Amino acid sequence: MSSKKVIRFGIIGCGLMGKEFASAAGRWCHLGDVAFEPKITAVCDPNPAATAWFTSHVGSVTKSVTDYRELLSDSEIDAIYCAVPHNLHADLYTDIIKAGKHLLGEKPFGIDREANSKISAAIAKHPDVLVRCSSEIPFYPGAYQIGQWVREGRFGKIIDVEAGFWHSSDMDPHKAINWKRMIQTNGEYGCMGDLGMHVLHLPLRFGWKPKNVRALLSNIMPTRPGPDGKPVPCETWDNAILATQFDHDGESIPMLLSTKRIAPGNANTWFIRINGTDFSAHFSTKEPSTLRYLPYEPGGNQAWHVVDTPHKSAYPSITGGIFEFGFSDSILQMWAAFCDELSHGKDMTQPFTCVTPTEAAQSHAIFTAALQSHKQTQVVNIDYDGCDNA
Ligand SMILES: NC(=O)c1ccc[n+]([C@@H]2O[C@H](COP(=O)([O-])OP(=O)(O)OC[C@H]3O[C@@H](n4cnc5c(N)ncnc54)[C@H](O)[C@@H]3O)[C@@H](O)[C@H]2O)c1
Repeated sequence: MSSKKVIRFGIIGCGLMGKEFASAAGRWCHLGDVAFEPKITAVCDPNPAATAWFTSHVGSVTKSVTDYRELLSDSEIDAIYCAVPHNLHADLYTDIIKAGKHLLGEKPFGIDREANSKISAAIAKHPDVLVRCSSEIPFYPGAYQIGQWVREGRFGKIIDVEAGFWHSSDMDPHKAINWKRMIQTNGEYGCMGDLGMHVLHLPLRFGWKPKNVRALLSNIMPTRPGPDGKPVPCETWDNAILATQFDHDGESIPMLLSTKRIAPGNANTWFIRINGTDFSAHFSTKEPSTLRYLPYEPGGNQAWHVVDTPHKSAYPSITGGIFEFGFSDSILQMWAAFCDELSHGKDMTQPFTCVTPTEAAQSHAIFTAALQSHKQTQVVNIDYDGCDNA
């Protein structure tokens, strides 16, 4: 019999990301010796085809509903994964938290800053509930290693930072409109709301909080085919380039953040580059096994080292060290971090947690300032008022 702590999960929103969680939970044995395990017992989605996938593929699911409130009143559910369109985040997340269920919610954690504040207010009233926001890519071994180097203070004086997340399927003008390309359901932030939390997870965790922003936003495809194939307006921002500065050791450090849905040739490229006077490092999911770093001694060579990273992330797994790491591995690792924190609190087995509600609130402050900056074509100071309330 397993001595693992079993966490009983309900999933609200059984689309793309709901299924990714089911897959990660289904191969929990892939992880080494962890003392916790998720068990998906219930699912909710108004679309019967979405829940049918779960009832036919996930043996532990015994309950399938169309109204999420039925999961919230179920005393046999400990925690919820909620992966629904952005316009639903505020209402659903606050109801989940008020019901006393632990929550891993999807980004952007509210369609806009006001919605995010409602979620933060609910969290403040329920400190016993663990609430985290999803962001998996920093669990890639290369990104995780860079996090360790920052914690060790290896970089010396930071020269500059660049981070981004670039997609390219929107290059195709025939790609039909969907909820992620509509302001009403996806939000004014556009690509920043979709991709920005992934880009900010590490910088914010390192304490590199932008103090101002000059944003350049582009709507490259103003129409897309609608349900009947005829063009309909596509008003969300496709690409965003944010030039920011953060304070570090008494200096203002430049940091360029970009989120692009139309970056030719980049299906799913997340990257971070940190340049420092003692050490520089670069990782991109474009080359998932490759980590680049440059240690520097005054007057010495400036030679980039290029190493294949071993299959080594936050939580050990059965995969041999020589094999590559991929997107679904990062999802599994993120879930291990959430379940570890739920089981062990501050005594979790490694230090890197999922995105905190404070970090999610900070991302809203940044995106809200970015919208203003683009509109006014000027640098905007970022107001983090209220971000620590969660
Ligand atoms: N972490 C990541 O890498 C990542 C990737 C993609 C999307 N996301 C995020 O995940 C969330 C969902 O995105 P997705 O790609 O899974 O979308 P999706 O469209 O594939 O799935 C959303 C599901 O929510 C369901 N839904 C709608 N209203 C509902 C309600 N009232 N109750 C329950 N279910 C409802 C829909 O029927 C659909 O099945 C979004 O917040 C998105 O930003 C995260």
